[in-house]
Amino acid sequence: MKKLLASYGRDEEFHAVAEQIITEEEKKNNRVLARSLRKSLSNGPSRRSRPKALAPLLPFPEAAADFIERIEPVHGKQDIILSFENIRIFLGLMKEFDRADEIRRHGLPVRSKLLFCGPPGCGKTLCAEIFAAELGLPLYVVKLDQLISSYLGETAANVRKIFEFARTQPCVLFFDEFDALARTRDESGEHHELRRVVNSLLIFIDRMRPKGFLIAATNLDQTLDSAIWRRFDEVVWFDKPDSRMIQRFVAMKFKNLSIDFDPKAHLSDLEGYAYAELDRICLQATKSSIIAKRKRVSEGDFVDAIADERRRRRRTSRMNEPV
Ligand SMILES: Nc1ncnc2c1ncn2[C@@H]1O[C@H](COP(=O)(O)OP(=O)(O)OP(=O)(O)O)[C@@H](O)[C@H]1O
Ligand SMILES: [Mg+2]
Repeated sequence: MKKLLASYGRDEEFHAVAEQIITEEEKKNNRVLARSLRKSLSNGPSRRSRPKALAPLLPFPEAAADFIERIEPVHGKQDIILSFENIRIFLGLMKEFDRADEIRRHGLPVRSKLLFCGPPGCGKTLCAEIFAAELGLPLYVVKLDQLISSYLGETAANVRKIFEFARTQPCVLFFDEFDALARTRDESGEHHELRRVVNSLLIFIDRMRPKGFLIAATNLDQTLDSAIWRRFDEVVWFDKPDSRMIQRFVAMKFKNLSIDFDPKAHLSDLEGYAYAELDRICLQATKSSIIAKRKRVSEGDFVDAIADERRRRRRTSRMNEPV
């Protein structure tokens, strides 16, 4: 029996060991069992067709390198602040992934297509990276704009290769800036070719049952049409931090530094910023203390950094105003 299990996947060897077991049963006069085993063996998959789970490892489709990139994670779970709700969702997804075979054996689907929504700088990309690292899965980022334009050419086969790859290899396939797709769908209007491309990508996503996860991230929420929503098994929101989360974030950023002020006193000035902006504030304050050759980050460093960010925000939001 041990030999049989060890040879699983190597067809010739598997058949030889199975034959050996059957012969032994015949010798022991267990003819009914032997006959039924032989029948099962001949009804099994032909020697040519391999069981799916043992499909040979597909190499990463090189032709797709223009629009997909493997990212090595550099962040870990200690680097992200998540709401309790999101922590619960991710722990649930990880448990489900661990027990996927068991769940499928019960005829139930496993959640594997996730949509991350939320304003810029609130952790969608960071979370995809850390989630993949926690699962021990490689992370592939799909560059949608390049993918769409290559699809417009004659390389539709490459797109199929990507989906085939992610269907057979456990990985996280991350479609960042997924809004590009949604927008294109809206704007394509009379551009039939583009519309066809976007629709066929959506169909691919629809039909796909990834071995790992397919994650799409978008800044839009309400404006995404329901045709997009319903393709995902789970929608995860990444909101701007409330004052409790701001406190946790600032404490995390200054964890290995000494500061000579209480960040709590500045909470009201920090509200409304995304994590990426808060990150810039903490970084800038730290740099000021280094430049001034001080061992501790001072309250002045912090206040100045907040003022810089406020100025930056005023200027950039003015630039985005309609003219
Ligand atoms: N929840 C968070 N916890 C800790 N740091 C965060 C968090 N969200 C964002 N950051 C910081 O901001 C940076 C940018 O975040 P990220 O790229 O994940 O944002 P995003 O939501 O993907 O934004 P966009 O919509 O612009 O793509 C991160 O590299 C990290 O330094
Ligand atoms: Mg992002």
